[in-house]
Amino acid sequence: MIRTLSVIGALFAGTAAMAQDSVPIQPMDVNAARAELGKRMFYDPRLSGDTSLACASCHMPDKAFTDGEALSQAYSGAMHFRNSPTLANVGYRAAWMHDGRLGTNLNDVAREMITETYLMNMDMRIMQERMKQDPKYVEMFAAAGMSEPSNGGARNALMDFMKTIVSRGAPIDSGDLTSSAERGRLIFEGKGQCSSCHSGPRYSDDKPHNTGVPNNPDIWSDPERHSAFVTYGKFMGVENYMNLREDLGAYIRTHTPDTKRSFLTPTLRELTYTAPYMHNGVFETLEEVVEFYNAGGGDDDLKDSRLKPLGLAASEKGDLVEFLKSMSGDTYDVDAYVWREDDFGYQLIDDWRNATN
Ligand code: HEC
Ligand code: HEC
Repeated sequence: MIRTLSVIGALFAGTAAMAQDSVPIQPMDVNAARAELGKRMFYDPRLSGDTSLACASCHMPDKAFTDGEALSQAYSGAMHFRNSPTLANVGYRAAWMHDGRLGTNLNDVAREMITETYLMNMDMRIMQERMKQDPKYVEMFAAAGMSEPSNGGARNALMDFMKTIVSRGAPIDSGDLTSSAERGRLIFEGKGQCSSCHSGPRYSDDKPHNTGVPNNPDIWSDPERHSAFVTYGKFMGVENYMNLREDLGAYIRTHTPDTKRSFLTPTLRELTYTAPYMHNGVFETLEEVVEFYNAGGGDDDLKDSRLKPLGLAASEKGDLVEFLKSMSGDTYDVDAYVWREDDFGYQLIDDWRNATN
């Protein structure tokens, strides 16, 4: 089923008119046929070396395209050392990955996901041939204006699909907040200083900051995670990577000491679906996150000076959690993502979000 992008546009025009303070996320410009192709690829396990993982294995629609784990899974024989981030509104980010190491083009992220040994471990030369053997892909590439399946075309298609993943229906956009959430907003914008980093329509400045989030010891106690972490450290040229027992965050690309343990501000949209939280999933609930900020963040010499103990009363903490929840939009239509085996392989049967909503 192909839902045209103009339909989404019309829905958004409707919500925009009702919006009060907050700015709803606007749909992005994409080639609709290419996005449809990218969507099929996103759910296709043939994009991983041993056909065991699809993008959707770690970015599940019913979890706002996260995986619900503190630390992500990985290709067979490895485990990941980071939390799988939401893909909601990901096309608008200025940089990607928790350390911001990819910042030019969203289709570069698609390549890293596919080819990285501890992600999908796929040789793109084989991927291209696999796609050429599937008549449905041949047809869809042609419909998207490409003569045949190619790696560049595949990456662009995944990019266009990801750009269609935009939030909608959040109470914050319609101005439909409970009085508790309204009180939470005052803390968020006032003494909490949350909005100094969590700014703009996505509630992110896309910049790295040190908030003192504690390390997740599972990275070093699990040999499969540790070996993936070491591989990453070595590739990024960080000194002494064998003995490293902390995630250095943005330092891994800047190599400037004051960026140690700083991570990109995540979006606060869709938090209801994206637990656990932080780059390493150390907090299971929003209550724990608010407790962390109430204590002035974690314990780190390089911590951002805006984080100070807030002394919030229990009711204020509850209000802040309510406000954070008001940034989550419509639930995702899980059944719509089922793949069914057809004669050749797999066929996507429906759209990723409930179009009637
Ligand atoms: C094995 C699990 C896994 C698979 C499979 C996977 N991802 Fe990811 N993805 C992750 C993790 C973990 C991160 C964060 C990595 C980091 O910060 O170093 C991530 C990050 C991303 C990001 C950056 C998001 C942001 O806000 O910075 C995008 C975009 C993305 N993945 C898209 C995809 C696409 C497209 C595919 C399929 C081609 C895919 N992923 C397959 C686990 C996975
Ligand atoms: C100095 C900038 C800064 C300030 C101020 C700040 N944050 Fe954050 N916030 C971040 C960064 C950076 C992260 C990610 C840290 C990590 O992954 O280790 C984060 C993570 C979060 C998360 C987890 C999101 C997720 O998907 O994992 C929530 C929720 C959050 N902040 C809410 C708040 C609230 C509420 C306040 C105010 C009390 C606040 N933040 C103040 C920078 C900031």
